[in-house]
Amino acid sequence: MAHIIVCGNEKGGSGKSTVTMHVATALVRMGFSVGGMDLDLRQRTFGHYVENRQSYAKSQNVELPCPEIAELPEIDEGQLSPGENIYDVRLSTAVAGLEQRCDFVVIDCPGSHTRLSQVAHSLADTLITPMNDSFVDFDLLAKRDPINGNIEGPSVYSEMVWNARQLRSQAGLDPIDWIVLRNRLGAQNMHNKKKVGDALDELSTRIGFRVAPGFNERVIFRELFPRGLTLLDLKDVGVQQMNLSNVAARQELRELMKSLKLPGVTVNF
Ligand SMILES: Nc1ncnc2c1ncn2[C@@H]1O[C@H](COP(=O)(O)OP(=O)(O)OP(=O)(O)O)[C@@H](O)[C@H]1O
Ligand SMILES: [Mg+2]
Repeated sequence: MAHIIVCGNEKGGSGKSTVTMHVATALVRMGFSVGGMDLDLRQRTFGHYVENRQSYAKSQNVELPCPEIAELPEIDEGQLSPGENIYDVRLSTAVAGLEQRCDFVVIDCPGSHTRLSQVAHSLADTLITPMNDSFVDFDLLAKRDPINGNIEGPSVYSEMVWNARQLRSQAGLDPIDWIVLRNRLGAQNMHNKKKVGDALDELSTRIGFRVAPGFNERVIFRELFPRGLTLLDLKDVGVQQMNLSNVAARQELRELMKSLKLPGVTVNF
């Protein structure tokens, strides 16, 4: 059965689709078969990324390994059992199909609280939550005392992950390995960076996640989207020499992939 990786955070624009594209591409490039699902049915960033990749490979006549994107199948409502939710059935049917033929299934969630996203979280063997390096994003993970900064308790998104964990444990499934990743880190605002880092470290032990090395703010993480590429593909499309920032980006992606500790994966790029 495939290992399921879900990228989620209710906070919009935190880097879910960017991380999904990079993790999925890293896995296909390492030779794994990867199924993908885009649960952001409106934006479809991850779906478009893979479509761009297929079109680019075809038009340039290059071989690029691609994730296999599955859509939610149409289900006849008449076939549902009493109390069964149609979205749950559509999602689990699609994931069950991919699970049969893939090593990994990578699922991108929308930046909002939807039924589909909720169910996807309960399917996650690994959950990756990217966040901007900001207390505005931290607010979805935990409430903090405004005066002394002490953590007062989990917030909406952590509670949703908690519920997903409960559901998995009731179903006898392995616990979710939850990884929080700081995204778009900058060279400035060192004071804020340290404060967010310290708060995350404290919270990680309280609510049970691991903090992974993050991505810095880098153009290379976004500029290749129209061609459906990541920095790992550059050699195949004729770029022989990477600049220093791109080399550093590859190092960041490598460190993320290592820290995910995915079964059977030895990071080799
Ligand atoms: N490390 C990075 N460096 C530079 N740009 C980045 C980085 N991460 C994300 N971005 C850019 O930030 C924006 C938001 O990223 P992305 O679309 O991945 O977030 P998201 O969480 O999927 O958003 P949504 O909640 O709308 O689905 C995009 O323009 C993306 O290209
Ligand atoms: Mg997105």
